Order: sequence, then structure tokens, then C-alpha cells
Amino acid sequence: MTTHRLNIAGVTKSFGPVKVLHGVDLKIAPGSVVGLLGENGAGKSTLMNIVSGSLRQDAGHLHLDGTELALQSVRDGIDLGIRFVHQELSTIGSLSVAENIFLGDYLAGRAGVIKRRDMAARSQEALASVGLDRIDPNTIVETLRPGQQQLIEIAKAVVVQPRLLILDEPTSSLTSVEAAKLFELMRKLAADGAAVIFITHKLEEALNNCDRIVVLRDGALVSDELADQTDKARLIHHMVGKSSVFEWKGSAAKASDAQISIRGLCDADAHLSPVSLDVGAGEVVALFGLVGAGRTEFMETLFGFRKAAGGEVFIHGRPLRLGHVPTSVRNGVAMVPEGRKVRGILPSHSVERNISASNLDRLSRFGLMRAGAEQGAAADLAASLRIKMENAKQVITRLSGGNQQKAVFARAVMVEPRLLLLDEPTHGVDVGAKSEIYEIIHELALKGMSVIVSSSELPEVLAIADRCVVFSQGEMVGSLTRSEMSEGEILRLAFANH
Ligand SMILES: Nc1ncnc2c1ncn2[C@@H]1O[C@H](COP(=O)(O)OP(=O)(O)OP(=O)(O)O)[C@@H](O)[C@H]1O
Ligand SMILES: [Mg+2]
Repeated sequence: MTTHRLNIAGVTKSFGPVKVLHGVDLKIAPGSVVGLLGENGAGKSTLMNIVSGSLRQDAGHLHLDGTELALQSVRDGIDLGIRFVHQELSTIGSLSVAENIFLGDYLAGRAGVIKRRDMAARSQEALASVGLDRIDPNTIVETLRPGQQQLIEIAKAVVVQPRLLILDEPTSSLTSVEAAKLFELMRKLAADGAAVIFITHKLEEALNNCDRIVVLRDGALVSDELADQTDKARLIHHMVGKSSVFEWKGSAAKASDAQISIRGLCDADAHLSPVSLDVGAGEVVALFGLVGAGRTEFMETLFGFRKAAGGEVFIHGRPLRLGHVPTSVRNGVAMVPEGRKVRGILPSHSVERNISASNLDRLSRFGLMRAGAEQGAAADLAASLRIKMENAKQVITRLSGGNQQKAVFARAVMVEPRLLLLDEPTHGVDVGAKSEIYEIIHELALKGMSVIVSSSELPEVLAIADRCVVFSQGEMVGSLTRSEMSEGEILRLAFANH
């Protein structure tokens, strides 16, 4: 009889009256990499929280190498070699890289045993395994990019060879080079005998890097296939129960004067060379670039979140006061920032409060929306984005990661801005909801809204953009019309300054 590294049998879990996992069975062999896919709210993180000891199942059993798991805490799991890298960053910004890597041992009071010098050397090794060789272990973590912080969490998880490594959407803030390095590490750990569970919304990543792919739908396992015997269309079908594709719907841009006119805009921190760009009513402009290309800086400067060092912005010919978010909002500019955890959500408030524009209604272009109408509009949006929740009064942090992201998007859309700025709006969002978001962007464009959307996914750019503006190292290096746009041309420009 073979012993499985992990054997999950009949696991169920409810939160209050809501049953989230309905008897999940899953067996994983040592040395294998298993992709775990499913829509937002399907129960992926909940299942992994049970496996790692931070939640208890209501019924069912778990075995690790044939021994029943009865974890009382995450610490118990770690001691058995189970490491879980969460969807949300949990590094402590004010500590150094080395301190973060050994945090668990500090907390367990075992730090005395580890010599400082050992710690530095072992951190260096762990950093090298995730491709961060060039980072000094004494660096304070908050000075690093989110992607690098994510890699530090992974380094921390593999500093001792784990028996079971769980990665919950680890690639959403990684560059393609960083992600490739991570896949190599997953392979190596598996070759050394670990079992790896890899959660992602990027189907190609799963197809290219896993041995097996399982799909969770509404808390039940609905498919279990070898990666080389399935494909994208099948996986989407398993996830959403229907095929879901979004294709370019044609332009909504009106051939009129520019609604938004940006002249020589640059930021006070000198990340950007002056940017000039006109955006028409109904036009969707995608910003493409490699990480560090300056897209976020550009959007934040335009929104007033970052100080401008120079330049002018006109909305319908009227100059906008720069560097002041309330003024931007009053003039019809809304922004969905990247990474909901940092600035996106009001964590202690309900979903309704997070989506609703009630405190923003006077800022709305149409100013007159009444409370009832507004609640209705919020509910409609929540429904069309299929935000999975018990009810709208629920605290937003109880929603799954992707559903929180949808709520942040809904709020920006609720104020019906003239100019909507979206920074990676579909990060962590499942394939089904992605096409809903594209559909909504298209509908807003038809109403005359101008949209600037930063995206690192070429298929996304090709699905939604009238124009693609490419940034490279802080400079706008090109602008491609629909007919000039192709993956090759966009990438050529993105690498222009490299
Ligand atoms: N502590 C909690 N209290 C109440 N409900 C919860 C709690 N944690 C999760 N849920 C609910 O359980 C369901 C499954 O959530 P889970 O986080 O496991 O989804 P997921 O598959 O990881 O989704 P995503 O892809 O968006 O991360 C969701 O409907 C979520 O709202
Ligand atoms: Mg999750």
C-alpha cells in the first residue's frame, strides 16, 4: 500500500450557517507538484488553512505520511514540515530580511540556539534559492518591492526542506523572471521529495509547472487530471461550469477632442520622464511595461497620490490641480490601486460600505443618486461581478481574496468617474470574473468614460484596449493603435530601454 504525503478524506467546513467545504477528498504523493484551481470563493485557501493548522475541519480526516494530523496550531504544522505561504503578504516591514526568515524560531524562543553568523549564512542560501542573491540579509523588508517581499516569504518557507509546501497565488506580484525562478525551485523541492500544492488563477502556469491539476468548485473537488492530459478550455469548464471567453468587442471611443489631456507630467521622485498623453471619451488605454517601468508612478501622479514635479492635466479643457486626491476625485477621477491589502479596502467595514458610494455621492458626476438607488446599483454590481458573500453586511475581510478585489473595483466604478484609473485590476481574480470586469470596462467606455488600465498580461491588453501605451524604465516609449498592436510589438517596446 502506498503512503501518501498528504491524504485528505471527507473534509467539511462551515462558517456559521454557510458550508464552504463539502467533503473534500485529495491524495498527494511525495515528489509531486499539484495545481489547485478554482473560482474566487471556491474554498482553496480555507482547505489549505485546515491542512496547515490555522483552521479546524468540522468533519473528515487528514494524514501526513500515514500519520493522522491533529494540528492545534500553525506551529504544530511547521514542526511537522508543513509550510504555507499565504495569498496576502505577511512579512514584517520594519524587520530585516534575515529576521523575517527566522521569525518563527525567534517566536518559539529558539533564536538563542541560532548564531547570528549562521543566520546570515542560512538567509543568504535561502535568498539564493529564490533568486534574490543580490539582496543583503540586513535590508529592511519594507524597502523592497511587493514581489521581492513575496519571495522572502517563500525563502522563509524553504529554509528547511519542507515535507509539504503550499503556495497560495504566489506569482501575482512576481515578474516573469522571478516566477520562472520560483517554478524551478518548486521542481527542485519536489525532486528532493517534497509535495507541493500550487494555487493560481493563471492557467498556463498550472499547465506548465504541475504534474496534476485539481479543481475545486463551490467547496467540492470536481476534477483531477494530469497536466499533460488537460488544457485551458477544459480547466475553465471545470472551474465555472461553462466556457468563459472574452473577446475584443470593438471600440467605444468617440472621435472627438481629448477628454483627458496630459502634458509633460512627471513625478517629484523623478521616476518618470515627462509623459504626454491624450485620452478620448470612451477610450480604453492600456499601459504595458515590465515591473519598475513607471506605470504605477504615472497613475499615482495623475491621481494626485504622488507629488508632481511638473506638467499639466486638463479634463475637458479645464486644468486640474495636481497632487491633491480630493480635487482629482471631485473632478471625476477614480483609481483602483494595485494590491487591495495596502490601500484598497476599508478592512473593518462591511462589503456594502466598501462598495457603496454613499459618502462619495456628491462627488459623482450625476450627483443626484439617492441612497436607495445607490444600494440597488451596488447590489447589481455585486451580482454581476458575482461577489461571493453571505450578505452585504458581512465584514469585507471575511471574503476570499479575489472577491475583495472585485469589491474594490465595484467601488471605483460606482462613482461613475470621467477618468477611471485601474492598476492591475484583475490580479487574483478568477477567469470568470475577469471577463465580467472586462465587460464592465467596455460598458463604461460606451457611456463615455475614459479608462487607463495598467496590465502585465498581454491577452488582457489585447482583449480590452483601444490603444496600448508602453513604458520602459520610467519613460513612455511608444503608443500602439489597435491595428498596430501585437504581442511581439508590445514586448519589443517594453524591452526598448533594457
Ligand atoms: N473566516 C471566515 N468567516 C466567514 N466566511 C469565510 C471565512 N473565511 C472564508 N470564508 C468564506 O469561505 C468561502 C471560501 O473562501 P476561500 O478564501 O477559501 O476562497 P478561495 O478559493 O481561496 O478564493 P480566492 O481565489 O478568491 O482566494 C468564501 O465564500 C468566503 O467568503
Ligand atoms: Mg484564496
